[in-house]
Amino acid sequence: MNNTTNAVSSSDIDIKPRRMNFPFEQVNETYFFDDNPLKSAFITALSATFPAGEGEFIDSVRLFRDKINDPELKKQIKGFIGQEGHHSFQHKRFNQSLKELGFDAVRVESDFEKDLEYTINGKSDRQRLAYTVCFEHLTAIMSDYFLRDTSTLDGLDDTIKDLMLWHTVEEIEHKAVAFDLYMACDGDRKLLRKSLIEASLLFSWRVTKYMFRLLRWSKIRPSWKDIKGYAAFMFGRKGMMRSLRKPYMDFFRKDFHPWDHQNQNLVDQWQRNHYQPEYDRGSDQFIKTASIG
Ligand SMILES: [Fe+2]
Ligand SMILES: [Fe+2]
Repeated sequence: MNNTTNAVSSSDIDIKPRRMNFPFEQVNETYFFDDNPLKSAFITALSATFPAGEGEFIDSVRLFRDKINDPELKKQIKGFIGQEGHHSFQHKRFNQSLKELGFDAVRVESDFEKDLEYTINGKSDRQRLAYTVCFEHLTAIMSDYFLRDTSTLDGLDDTIKDLMLWHTVEEIEHKAVAFDLYMACDGDRKLLRKSLIEASLLFSWRVTKYMFRLLRWSKIRPSWKDIKGYAAFMFGRKGMMRSLRKPYMDFFRKDFHPWDHQNQNLVDQWQRNHYQPEYDRGSDQFIKTASIG
C-alpha cells in the first residue's frame, strides 16, 4: 500500500453490488484449501461469521444514516448495504455447502449469532458503529493482502477463490463508508482506536475458537505438515500477520482515512483478470431469487 495525495477518495468510488451466484455444488473437497484442514477451517470460520457479522454492519450503519444530509454519502451507504447484504447471502449458501462437505459452518453461524448478541447487548449506537468501522478496517487490509498477491490463495478451490476475490474487491470499494459516516456523526477517534484493539482481540479469539470447534466436530487431527503449512500462511515471511502489521497500525494515526491506502488499482486488476461474468446474475434476477428466499 502506498500513500499518495490527490488520488482516489471516497466520493470517486461508485459502490454497486455485483449480484454473483457461485456454483458451490462444484466444491467437492472437505479440505478445499491446499488439502490442509487448518487452512480450510480458517476460511470456514471466517465464512461462518459473515452472515450475522455483516448483518450487524448494516444495522449499525442504518442507525445513523438519517442523521446525515450529504447525498453522496447517502448513496454510498445504499451501495454499502447492497454489497454487504449480498455477501451475507452468498456466504450463507457457501456455509450450507461446507456443512454438506463435513465442516459444520451452519452450526458455527448460529454460535456466532449468540456471541455477537452478547457483544452488542447494551452497547450504545456510537459504539456499535465504531466496531463496524474497525471491522471494516480489518476486512479492508485483509482484502488488500489477498488481492495484491493472489498467490496467497494458491491451492484454494477455484469456486471458493472466486468467492473470496469478489468479496475482497467489494470490501475495498466500500471500506470508507462506515468511517465517513462515523466521522460525520461523531468523530471521536479515541473511541475508534480503543475499539480497534477490542475488535482485533475478539476477532482473533473467536476465529480460533471456531476453528477448534470445526476440527473437533469433524474429528480431525491435523498432521505436522498441516500445522507447518498453516503457520507459514499466517506467520511466515510472506504470511498474513507480518504483511498486515503496517496497514493495521496506520489506523492509529491522528489523521488516518481508509483511502490513505490507495488500492483502487486492485479492483481494476480483478476486473481484468478474475471477474467471471457467467456468475454475475445482474440485479433483476437477484431480486427474483431474493424474494423467493
Ligand atoms: Fe462483506
Ligand atoms: Fe465490509
